[in-house]
Amino acid sequence: MELNVLGTSKVALAICKRLVERSHTVRFVVSRSKENAQRFVEDLGEGVATTYEELKMLSGVVFVAVPDSAIAQVYEWTKDKILPGSCLIHFSGFHSSKIFADWEKLGFHRASMHPNLSFADPTVALLNLSNCIFGVEGDPEGLKTAIKLVEDISNKYVVLSEDGKISYHLAAVLCSNFVVGLAALAEKIYGESGVEDSRELMSNLIGSVAQNIKAKGVAGSLTGPVARGDWEVVNKEGELFKSIFPQFTTFYDQMVELLRRLKEGRL
Ligand SMILES: NC(=O)c1ccc[n+]([C@@H]2O[C@H](COP(=O)([O-])OP(=O)(O)OC[C@H]3O[C@@H](n4cnc5c(N)ncnc54)[C@H](OP(=O)(O)O)[C@@H]3O)[C@@H](O)[C@H]2O)c1
Repeated sequence: MELNVLGTSKVALAICKRLVERSHTVRFVVSRSKENAQRFVEDLGEGVATTYEELKMLSGVVFVAVPDSAIAQVYEWTKDKILPGSCLIHFSGFHSSKIFADWEKLGFHRASMHPNLSFADPTVALLNLSNCIFGVEGDPEGLKTAIKLVEDISNKYVVLSEDGKISYHLAAVLCSNFVVGLAALAEKIYGESGVEDSRELMSNLIGSVAQNIKAKGVAGSLTGPVARGDWEVVNKEGELFKSIFPQFTTFYDQMVELLRRLKEGRL
């Protein structure tokens, strides 16, 4: 397929690299800055770098690869320069593709394909992309296009309800961003315990939990003092947690309560 990209995003770059390997072509890369577009094109190895001001006409697939808060704005800037029959696709887990207002009147198809992957590091993202599960939705034709593209990236996807995206994205935030928040707490406590570089240790530990979740489900993956009922350990460590993080004193007790309910099947 012929692909175009609006916004020089990390997600778009990784996805386009993979799709180019699978014989798709990237035509225009559109940016607010010509230099950014040129850098993207050089990194990708194909495409024509341009700006929103210089842009002529787009056709085929148009990736709107900008922050969630800018999707509607960038669509407004460009919709007059997109030919009818084109398919608009964004990567947001939060917005539905209905954000492309008047898509039907303008003759567009629409879809979203949200990668359940963290793109913080481009090399890590590219390594994991072939195993990435996408959340996809769209109008019938747009959905077909998104699924065809996903088939060439990882061939793994779940079809989402257009109106259920907020809860879907909230779950993804808990799985991804909240884990980083927990790791930030753990990193500080490891430091206080004398383990100065805990990166690999945490990564291996979190990785083993992730593997258990896949093998045994969430409830079956619970180990540790709450699961064993070692309440002396739970209470002593709670005191230490509250002394290190006086700003989060209720957090520890709430997490313990959550784990207790999970163990008892009352969540
Ligand atoms: N990052 C992740 O791990 C991740 C994971 C799953 C899904 N997503 C989704 O993927 C999409 C892109 O995210 P990303 O992390 O790849 O973004 P990103 O790397 O931060 O890049 C977004 C690009 O959008 C353009 N942009 C930024 N602010 C803008 C504004 N106010 N108006 C117009 N253009 C603007 C910039 O390009 P120019 O300067 O070239 O114009 C920027 O490079 C989002 O919908 C996000 O929810 C991200």
